[in-house]
Amino acid sequence: MSVGCAACHTIPGTDADGVVGPDLTHIGRRLTLGAATIPNTRGHLGGWVVNSQTIKPGNKMPPQKIAAEELPALLTYLESLE
Ligand code: HEC
Repeated sequence: MSVGCAACHTIPGTDADGVVGPDLTHIGRRLTLGAATIPNTRGHLGGWVVNSQTIKPGNKMPPQKIAAEELPALLTYLESLE
């Protein structure tokens, strides 16, 4: 919520109700990200969140400014969404 992801993504049980990007409800369980562009590993997930444009140029998710010390917690949270 604090870094703006919720403006575009929905996560049930939170106030995140954006509809621009895909629903992240089961993101931790998924095998691939970005419409099967990359495998859903912690490294790829982090790379996607910070700058998905280098992975899938022209997609509608802009690069996200996330403090280096906040990224591990965010990734752990996303991985927990099964
Ligand atoms: C301006 C809207 C926007 C914001 C803000 C945004 N996203 Fe996204 N996000 C998208 C869109 C659109 C996609 C789908 C891109 C594609 O695959 O073409 C996406 C895809 C994703 C995916 C891959 C989902 C999948 O189904 O493969 C993840 C994970 C993700 N976003 C996490 C985040 C996180 C975490 C944040 C906050 C740090 C964030 N996003 C902020 C729009 C946004």
